[in-house]
Amino acid sequence: MNTALMQFHVDLSPFNSFQLPCVARQFIQVDTRQELLAALAQHGHVEQPLLVLGGGSNVIFTDDFDGLCLRVNSRGIQVQPLAEQLVRVRVEAGEPWHPFVGYCLEQGWYGLENLALIPGTVGAAPIQNIGAYGVEVKQRIHHVEVWDRNKRALIQLSNKQCQFGYRDSLFKSIEAGRYLIVSVSFDLSTEFTPQLVYGGLAEAVAVRAPTARQVFDAVVGLRQRKLPDPAQLANAGSFFKNPVLSQRQCDLLRRAHPDLVAYPDPLGMKLAAGWLIDQAGWKGVRQGAVGVHAQQALVLVNYGGASGEQLLALARAIQVDIQQRFGVALEIEPRVI
Ligand code: FAD
Ligand code: EPU
Repeated sequence: MNTALMQFHVDLSPFNSFQLPCVARQFIQVDTRQELLAALAQHGHVEQPLLVLGGGSNVIFTDDFDGLCLRVNSRGIQVQPLAEQLVRVRVEAGEPWHPFVGYCLEQGWYGLENLALIPGTVGAAPIQNIGAYGVEVKQRIHHVEVWDRNKRALIQLSNKQCQFGYRDSLFKSIEAGRYLIVSVSFDLSTEFTPQLVYGGLAEAVAVRAPTARQVFDAVVGLRQRKLPDPAQLANAGSFFKNPVLSQRQCDLLRRAHPDLVAYPDPLGMKLAAGWLIDQAGWKGVRQGAVGVHAQQALVLVNYGGASGEQLLALARAIQVDIQQRFGVALEIEPRVI
């Protein structure tokens, strides 16, 4: 059986997009499915403190990790035609997300274009049910293959069993840490239907019947204009979730703040947290090595040398201020470790 090398006292700062310091007592990078399964058989039991890392674009380290960090870099894409216009694509967890979306486009498998340029791996996509520009990945996931640390076995979880919600899933619930995602199976269409409802996307696409490539390019362009590239300025994308209020709570808030930005949501109204933080005057504010991005108030950044605690101190100050001004609680989106 293929086994990957274990290293000791490994600095994880190159492996997280916030570039936060964290030393893992043990570290294994797996580059194939076989190496992943071998590592899980050996180290995947529940007693082992385990930190699973994909691209590290949604984690905040606040301390060293006294356990095993398993960095998942397994590759492989398999396709199975299902019907005339439907393919099932099984993708190993370590495949990088954005190149995978580009590959699907080239193959003529549609449905993921709006999720272009999201950093990270395929295996992490179900964790918070990644979403952007009016599409969530749950709309295309058929099932997820996981290593169940309780049963010490590979099992499949259906889309329904994954309990997907807005930036949420079974994998973030009380079951967090039980399952390690080994592969994700997507149902994609060979016929393209554009999804252009998200504000600004139709304008950016600029044609009435766009191709999938045009939608993909428009999403990439919008994201490049709004969001800082972690390679240039360390960040983890949106730092807070957009809060969901009831219609009544939203109406009350709008009376006091007529310009409030909010969108209908299955559970009520979803507020643009970036608008709240922007209105409160935090946009572009810098506190030492950390700050609020000057173009997108929902993104906190590390200018270099910041610690997780400094970042969380800024986040707490924003949360307190937004609670006092608007009566709205902001929940941190990335996983704090
Ligand atoms: P990591 O950061 O490595 O891990 C995130 C969490 O998933 C951790 O808890 C980790 O333990 C767990 N995990 C990772 N892999 C596995 C696995 N195989 N099995 C079990 N658990 C696992 N997100 C959006 O939804 N929409 C966006 O538009 C978006 N834009 C972003 C823009 C920028 C600039 C950045 C930096 C981030 C953005 N994100 C966005 C957040 C991030 O890209 C996603 O959450 C992504 O899915 C994280 O992937 P990752 O491989 O980097 O996960
Ligand atoms: N806004 C401001 N000021 C700001 C930022 C935003 O007023 O500084 C207002 C604007 O009115 C804008 C609205 O907020 O129209 C929404 O902003 P944007 O379209 O940039 O989206 P967002 O709500 O800030 C969410 C996701 C992003 C995703 C985009 C596009 C969350 C927490 N964030 O951001 O996801 O890419 O929509 O769909 O849901 C991430 O999760 O890391 C992430 C980047």
